[in-house]
Amino acid sequence: MTAVKSICCIGAGYVGGPTCAVIAYKCHDIKVTIVDVNPARIAAWNSDKLPIYEPGLEDVVLARRGKNLFFSTNVDGAIQEADLIFVSVNTPTKKSGMGAGRAADLAYVESATRRIAQVATSSKIVVEKSTVPCRTAQSMRTILEANSTDKIHFDILSNPEFLAEGTAIDDLLKPDRVLIGALQTPEGIRAQQALADVYGHWVAKESILTTNLWSSELSKLAANAMLAQRISSVNALSAICEATGADVDEVAYACGRDSRLGSKFLKASVGFGGSCFQKDILNLVYLSEQLNLPEVAAYWHQVVIMNEYQKKRFVRNIIKTLFNTITNKKIAVLGFAFKKDTGDTRESAAITLIKDFIQESARVAIYDPKVDRQQIVMDLSEPGVVDTQQQVEKHVQICSSAYEAAKDADAVVLVTEWDEFRDDQLDYAKIYDGMHKPAFLFDGRLLVNAPKLRKMGFKVNVIGKTELAGKA
Ligand code: NAD
Ligand code: UDX
Repeated sequence: MTAVKSICCIGAGYVGGPTCAVIAYKCHDIKVTIVDVNPARIAAWNSDKLPIYEPGLEDVVLARRGKNLFFSTNVDGAIQEADLIFVSVNTPTKKSGMGAGRAADLAYVESATRRIAQVATSSKIVVEKSTVPCRTAQSMRTILEANSTDKIHFDILSNPEFLAEGTAIDDLLKPDRVLIGALQTPEGIRAQQALADVYGHWVAKESILTTNLWSSELSKLAANAMLAQRISSVNALSAICEATGADVDEVAYACGRDSRLGSKFLKASVGFGGSCFQKDILNLVYLSEQLNLPEVAAYWHQVVIMNEYQKKRFVRNIIKTLFNTITNKKIAVLGFAFKKDTGDTRESAAITLIKDFIQESARVAIYDPKVDRQQIVMDLSEPGVVDTQQQVEKHVQICSSAYEAAKDADAVVLVTEWDEFRDDQLDYAKIYDGMHKPAFLFDGRLLVNAPKLRKMGFKVNVIGKTELAGKA
């Protein structure tokens, strides 16, 4: 295969959009077309208001859109034109059928693969960008090979994406590594090299790792499972800290100073969220069960169980502290996104927490700088419980500032670690003045300086810390 000149990305989501926009940004000699079946999403990519919020994304898109970067609903045309196709569609946890609640739903991957097989008129390198269970490339290959001819040949690669939301552009511009898995055949290795050359426009050779297909697929699940495992480990320790007077920040720092452990991803929290961690661990659990490895499945499953426990523990602590009832009390929830610097709410801890508050008949006021009303209402609607917009809006007030949310509140709950909620940015004295007394503050993100806020009069409760420690 000669150098890649035209790329198609199927799936204009959180991964396909930024990843291929950065390829276009760095490779002016390659035409990049990002396609999607969702016309509204494509229209947004072609508009002034991009469909996702990601620092730095707008600059990258505006620099190349209409030059060598295109967004289109013409999936077939882009497939036909491309030498290399990224399959970057969603792979959510299955909701029904075999493996429901655990296995990845591969229907979108299969449908994109079938489309490629159906409409391709020349040879293609097909790249699995979506996160998939180990050996999915085999199924894709079977579909593609069944449609190969003497003139049309398909090579399949695995190139999982490691970007994190909120830092996607930085992660893509300066990746720790790029991973490319291929069948270890002469054609496979040639295709692997062709994709490596695309990344080679800006990524150092030593950072482009090449492996066999299955190692690449499994490495993605493994990396997410290990990252999430660290958070569940520190969150498990946070419960011990609260019961003993140890301080979880100090424990994490002391452990992280061990170069074998490293300091990243040891921030205790109200629980991890996001579209990946839970889904990918459950995927690994299902894979282990399918491979008849129940102990391995149970080991990884515990990471998710611990995360659920952490969210429930936080809610229980809030109710207990508010004198065992939150009925009719106003709770201000600051932050709804699953982490700062994104408007993404998928699996956000805020959703679990707020649903629990509603069950306890509290009045909830929500403020998030990047999540819009419609998204919040949709996330909180639950068939059979609060399934209409009016019902959701009866229970929750969606506010346009932290001050509005905290006005007349009995408690403020910090759920997302947005910088604007830090105590050097938000006027906590003003918040305090507007609240019912005693004014409680629950910090699920270790974001504020608790002693400082206690001096203002707040009753502060921080995850993994206790006043017993003297410096909580
Ligand atoms: P997403 O839901 O934001 O985007 C997927 C897009 O694919 C949607 O817009 C959907 O309309 C489109 N699509 C589905 N089937 C299609 C088809 N047959 N033809 C054309 N378009 C189709 O999902 P995402 O967050 O971008 O995730 C995509 C994949 O990347 C998943 O497997 C995910 O696990 C993985 N991943 C996500 C992240 C992340 O931070 N979000 C990071 C790494 C990996
Ligand atoms: C994750 C992986 O980091 C990324 O490599 C992969 O490609 C996709 O999944 P993402 O989910 O976007 O990325 O964000 P991440 O920064 O990993 O945070 C996930 C969740 O863990 C968030 O809710 C975050 O607040 C939480 N978290 C993270 C903690 O609670 N403590 C930490 O120390 C780090």
